[in-house]
Amino acid sequence: MIKKTNYGFLIQNNNIVLHIAFYSHNTVRFVYDKSNSLPASSFAVVKEFENIEAVVKGNSIITKELEIVIDKNTMQLLIYNKNGELLNKDKEIDLENIKVDKELLWEKGFYGLGEKYSWINHLGARYSNWNTDVLGVMSLHSTTLDEYHTSIPFYIGLDKDKSYGIYFDNTFRTYFDFGNEERGKVSFGSEGGKVDYYFIYDENVSQVVNAYTKLTGSMELPRKDFLGFQQCRWGYENRDKLMEVALRMREEDIPCDVLYLDIDYMVDYKVFTVDTEKFYEFKEMVSLLNNMGYKLVVIIDPGVKAEKDYFVYDEGIKKDYFIKDSKGEVYVGEVWPGASVFPDFLKDEVRKWWGELHKGLVEDGVEGIWNDMNEPADFKHDSKTIPTDTIHIDDNGIIKEHKEIHNVYAMYEACSAYEGLLNQRPEKRPFILTRAAFAGTQRYSALWTGDNHSIWEHMEASIPMFINLGLSGYSFIGSDVGGFAGNSNGELLTRWTQLGTFTPLFRNHSAKDCIHQEPWCFGTKYTDIIRRFTKLRYKFITYLYNVMRESSLKGSPVIRPLFYHYQYDEKTYNINDQFLFGKDIMVCPILRPGIIKRMVYLPDGIWYNYWTKEKINGNRYIIADAPLDVIPLYVRAGAVISEDEVQQFIKEDNDILNIHIYIGEDTKAYFYFDDGISFNYRQDIYSEIEIKAEKYEKVLNVSITANKDNYKIPKLLINIHGLEEQDSIVLSTSNVKAQLVN
Ligand code: GLC
Repeated sequence: MIKKTNYGFLIQNNNIVLHIAFYSHNTVRFVYDKSNSLPASSFAVVKEFENIEAVVKGNSIITKELEIVIDKNTMQLLIYNKNGELLNKDKEIDLENIKVDKELLWEKGFYGLGEKYSWINHLGARYSNWNTDVLGVMSLHSTTLDEYHTSIPFYIGLDKDKSYGIYFDNTFRTYFDFGNEERGKVSFGSEGGKVDYYFIYDENVSQVVNAYTKLTGSMELPRKDFLGFQQCRWGYENRDKLMEVALRMREEDIPCDVLYLDIDYMVDYKVFTVDTEKFYEFKEMVSLLNNMGYKLVVIIDPGVKAEKDYFVYDEGIKKDYFIKDSKGEVYVGEVWPGASVFPDFLKDEVRKWWGELHKGLVEDGVEGIWNDMNEPADFKHDSKTIPTDTIHIDDNGIIKEHKEIHNVYAMYEACSAYEGLLNQRPEKRPFILTRAAFAGTQRYSALWTGDNHSIWEHMEASIPMFINLGLSGYSFIGSDVGGFAGNSNGELLTRWTQLGTFTPLFRNHSAKDCIHQEPWCFGTKYTDIIRRFTKLRYKFITYLYNVMRESSLKGSPVIRPLFYHYQYDEKTYNINDQFLFGKDIMVCPILRPGIIKRMVYLPDGIWYNYWTKEKINGNRYIIADAPLDVIPLYVRAGAVISEDEVQQFIKEDNDILNIHIYIGEDTKAYFYFDDGISFNYRQDIYSEIEIKAEKYEKVLNVSITANKDNYKIPKLLINIHGLEEQDSIVLSTSNVKAQLVN
C-alpha cells in the first residue's frame, strides 16, 4: 500500500520502509529505512520538503513532471517524465550492503562528483569518495587516483533532450560506477549509513544544477576584491620577505589584492598564535599591507598542538572539545606541530569556540582564513587520516564514528570559520578558502584543488576538476597557479597564469622546497606576459562579479562545460580543454610546452575572436593561433562584456566602465553594481542596468536602462563590435550616463 504522508508517500514491505519525499516538482527523495518517520538529512541539505500535488494510480505516483512506478516486492523504481520517456530504472537494490544498481539507459555522459582526477565525462569510470591529502601519490594522469581532497556524491546523467542528477546523501566513504564493472550498469554505494538519495529531473542540465544548489545551498556573493589576483607561497618566512613581495608587486605594476601567510607565521605551528619575532609588530604590518591595498589571509589547520600551557589545547581539553579514540581518550595524531589533537566540529559549541578563536587575527586586520589539512590529514597512518573508529559526539550526545564524519569534517570547520568571521566583522562578507569539502561546502568557502605539481599534466587535469566542481555547485574555485610541488618554469607559469585569469580563485602558490614562482621570477619575457594577463583579469572583474552573483542566486557555475549551453550538441560532451567563463566567453588554454596553435571547437552560432574581433561561424573545429602571449578566447555573438579600467587593486568602484557589445541575435545583458564588500545589497542597496542592442535594417538601437539605481553606476563607454559599413547607431539611455566610443 502506498500511504500518503505530509512529505509525500511511504511504502512498507516486510520490515523495509521506502519514503518518497518531494522537494520540488522535479526533486524527489528516496530513503530506504526501518523507521516510519522520514530520517533527517545530512548537514549538506538545506532545503525542506514541499507539499507537491501527486496522485496514486495502482503502483504509480504521478506529479506534473514525473511518474514513479514502484515494484512493491523488490522496492525497485522506474521513473518516467511526463512524455512517458523512461528516465531511470533500478536493476538491484542491496540494502544490506547499501548499494543501488541502475540500468545505464540513454545517458551519453556522466558528470559531477566534484573534484576528481579524471576527464570530464565519467562514463566507463569508477570512483570512490574519501577526503584525502593526496600530495605525492601520483604525478601523472592515473585512473587509480580517485580519492581526492573533496567528496561530493552528486552526479548528472546527460543526453541532448534530457538530464537528471542523483545526489546520494551519505557521508561515509561512497562508491560510484558508471558502466565500469558492467557496461549497462550504473551503481552507487557506501560503507555505512542508508540508501538515501535525491533524484532531480529536467530537460536542461542547467536546471538540474540549479535544483541541486537549491537542495545543498549556493555560494554567498563573495567580496569583489577577493576576485583579484592572489599571491601565496609556503612560505614567506618573515615580515621582510612578505613586505618584499608586497612592494615588488606594485613596483612591477602587477595588480594584486590578496597575500597569504602559510604555516610559518605561527609559533611552532600552533594555530591562533603569531610568531612576533619573525613577524614583528604584526598588527602594524597588516595595516601597512592594507594601506597598500592588500588583504591578508592566514592559514589555520585543524590540528592543534598537543602541548600543555598552550591556550587552545588547554581550553579544548578542559571543555572536552577534541575527538576521542575508540577507548574514549583524546586522540593524538601528528600534523605540522608534531603531536596534535583535533576539534570535534560536530558540536555547535565547539564550532562557536573555534569561530571565536579567530578574534585576535580579525582584530589584527586579517581579512580571510585559509583552512588546510582538513580532510583531516594525519601523518601518523598510511591512511593519511585519523582512524575511522575515532569518536565524535553530536549536539544530542549521540556518538558517531569518524568513518561517518570524515567527509563532512572540513565542511563543519568551514562553517565554524565562516560564522566566526561573520560574528566578529558583520559588516564584511567573510572569505574562507578550503582544501577538503563535501556537498554544500560552497555555502561557506571558496576551494582550491589542493596540492598539484608544477607539471603541464596537472594544469590540464585542473580543467575537468573545475568543470565537475562547477556542475556540483562549486563556483569559487581555482588551482595553485604555476603548480605547488616541484619547480615551475617561465613558460608553464605564463600559460597557467593565462588559465588562472579565467578561474574565480586566481592564486599563485608554491611549496617550500621548490624555486620561487612569483610573477617576476623567470625573466622579463615572461613577466611582461604575466603582467598583461593579470591586468586582463582586472578588466574582467565586473563581468566576473556579475557571473558570481548569478551563481549565488541560481547556482550556475562560473566555469561551465560547453554542453551547459549547447546540450543539443553531442560533440561538446567530451571537451576537456575548453570551457565557458560565464555564458559568453569561451576559454581555450594552451596545456603543453612549445605549442603555438591549437584546435578549438566552436559550437553553433557566431563567435568573435576576442583579440582580433574577427567574426567566425561556429559548428566546426578551427585552428587557433596561440603564441605565448595569447590564450585563444572567443566571445558569443549577442554578448555584452564589461571591461574595467585596470587598477593595482580593487579599491573602489571605477568611475568608468567600458562596455563591449558583440552584435548578435538577441543582444542583451544585465549588470549589477554594489559596494562589493558588505551585506548592504540585502537591504536593496545596489543597482542593476539592462543593456540591449537591436538592429533594424541599417540602424543599431542601443538602449541602456537602470532598472534599479540604489548604488553608484559608473559612466559607460560603449564599444560596438560587428557593425557593417554604413550601419548607424542610436543610443538611448535612462538614468545611466553613457557615451559611444566607436
Ligand atoms: C599543504 C597545503 C599547501 C600548504 C602546505 C603547508 O600541503 O595543501 O597549500 O602550503 O600544506 O601549509
